[in-house]
Amino acid sequence: MNDLHVVILAAGKGTRMKSAIPKVLHHLAGLPLIEHVLRTVDQLDVASKVLVVGHGADEVRTTLTGRPDLQYVVQSPQLGTGHALLQAEPVLKDKKGTVLLLYADVPLLQSSTLSRLVEAHRSARAAATVLTAELQDPYGYGRIVRDTAGLITRIVEHRDASAAQQAIREVNSGIYTFALSSLFDHLHRLATDNAQGEYYLTDLVAMYRQEDKRVETLRLDSADELRGVNSRLDLAELSAVLRQRKNRSLMVSGVTLEDPATSYIEMDVAVGQDTILGPGVRLEGTTTIGSRCRIHAGSRLTNATIDDDVVVLDYSVIVDSSVGAHAAIGPMAHIRPNSVVGPSARVGNFVELKKTSLGRGSKANHLAYLGDATIGEGANIGAGTITCNYDGVNKHKTVIEDGVFIGSDSQLVAPVTIGRDAYVGAGSSITRDVPAGALAIARSHQTVKDGWAAKLKADRAANKKEKK
Ligand code: UD1
Ligand code: CA
Repeated sequence: MNDLHVVILAAGKGTRMKSAIPKVLHHLAGLPLIEHVLRTVDQLDVASKVLVVGHGADEVRTTLTGRPDLQYVVQSPQLGTGHALLQAEPVLKDKKGTVLLLYADVPLLQSSTLSRLVEAHRSARAAATVLTAELQDPYGYGRIVRDTAGLITRIVEHRDASAAQQAIREVNSGIYTFALSSLFDHLHRLATDNAQGEYYLTDLVAMYRQEDKRVETLRLDSADELRGVNSRLDLAELSAVLRQRKNRSLMVSGVTLEDPATSYIEMDVAVGQDTILGPGVRLEGTTTIGSRCRIHAGSRLTNATIDDDVVVLDYSVIVDSSVGAHAAIGPMAHIRPNSVVGPSARVGNFVELKKTSLGRGSKANHLAYLGDATIGEGANIGAGTITCNYDGVNKHKTVIEDGVFIGSDSQLVAPVTIGRDAYVGAGSSITRDVPAGALAIARSHQTVKDGWAAKLKADRAANKKEKK
């Protein structure tokens, strides 16, 4: 029976974030807040998904263009959470069943918890069911007020709560299920007689109870997953929780984290067995790392694809690029977008690659800039080699074929091709193609003057005598 309709409130400004960016687009562990909630919903079987947008509506829609199954309703102006849900009336008024209401700023929620909530709601045939938990520090949350029989009578917002009510530690998570049948009738009757002058969704509870409608609660043992993001402090605290979740799941699956406290690994990252991650490693976006790799301290990998048995030495950066099996990178290497480091290749210290492929077993061990270059297999790129790929207007390509040896401190002025097995002498400025198997040397000739130093010394001594 699929009559579950999800409504997510995401119209608020997020005043306490002090930000020009809509709150729900702030990133948590590499994903916008709203994306966390949507991924949780993805794991449920739902009939429809409605997103209530308002503040920054266009930006929110643009961010979510990859999700065509979302229906949008706009709340403008934003007059409170009750008013926000009311905006979904045109989409849901002819529907039957249950509304699962979520706030976009509550990102740690697990889908199993939502399933339990829906289940509890349906089996109790409740008009509303509220997900609650006890918090050590309930500051800022709505409090759950119960009667002597223990039934929920109302939710009081922190700002509207008396001192006694503020002492209540059971809080409203902002997650509820509602029977659709009478929901919108009641939402129309909400008032704004509260500290913020807003239409509070939470007031539905008291309204229902006064009409003797059934309101249930599902109280969770741990409040961790119900925490909302209202400020940057919350953002930092919640990201620590998510980070621990991700670290733990990697360790459980066979990855060693030398210092989990300083490992920053985003949600979509995958790491293979027996890979060891050093302290301060940052793995972002869709980075995938194979088995038996070692990623040393302080390296950052963004959308990188790393095969098995790769070593990335300390403080290297790899972005939108791939590295083949048994290759070694760094320390302090910079692999910029669209680069491909082949299997068993070696990119050493202070080497920068940009839009460059380095073939199997090729080496660029020290101090080089290789941009817009295609480098074959078994090539040796000497220390200080620079591809001069930019003429001030356009970028040009350098081709270095298999087995080429580029001597140290050479400049390759693109467009230029160095043919298979050719040699370039150290210190050359190569401006024309080098045929396969040839040796190219392009540097000024060395002049040697025998005994020149002794002559200089003698001249200086004579000069001194004259002056006296
Ligand atoms: C709300 C609850 C509070 C609960 C807390 C849990 C109300 C009145 N209070 O308080 O009981 O403990 O969440 O995190 O519901 N929004 C709109 N339109 C609006 C106002 C808000 O779409 O006009 C959205 C926001 O974008 C946000 C969510 O609703 O995603 C919650 O709004 P927020 O202002 O953060 O409510 P809280 O003060 O946290
Ligand atoms: Ca909130």
